Amino acid sequence: MNGPNLNLLGRREPAVYGSAGMDRCLEALRGRFSGVTLEYFQSNHEGELIDRLHAVGFSGEYAGVVLNAGAYTHTSLALADAIAAIEVPVIEVHISNVHAREEVRHRSMISGVCAGVIAGFGLDSYRLGVEAIVSPKLV
Ligand code: DQA
Repeated sequence: MNGPNLNLLGRREPAVYGSAGMDRCLEALRGRFSGVTLEYFQSNHEGELIDRLHAVGFSGEYAGVVLNAGAYTHTSLALADAIAAIEVPVIEVHISNVHAREEVRHRSMISGVCAGVIAGFGLDSYRLGVEAIVSPKLV
């Protein structure tokens, strides 16, 4: 699940976010995790992301959510409340290493209610997020 401005992936600040779009990323993910059904949702609207989390989080049909909340990561208590409310684990992911960027990006409103956080691996952050949900635990 992607939040605001991530529909522009591939065109948006390529020096930070790379030049591949989400279509390519999803195709690669679906190739890598061929035994898993991966559904994608993106919205630029906070309420739509919350509505989607509610729908997914109580459906009993999903093993987890890989969420790049974009800038809402740093601002949205409402998104944090939604993540805390639902029954499926949410993995927070970021393409860039938010901790190596402006200080405003160091704070996450959602990390504390997510199952874990992955940041800084480019589009591979999404792969690592899916791994966290579907791969058997190491020990
Ligand atoms: C981002 C980092 C956020 O700070 C930013 O607002 C984004 C993308 C990332 O994937 O690196 O929109 O979540």
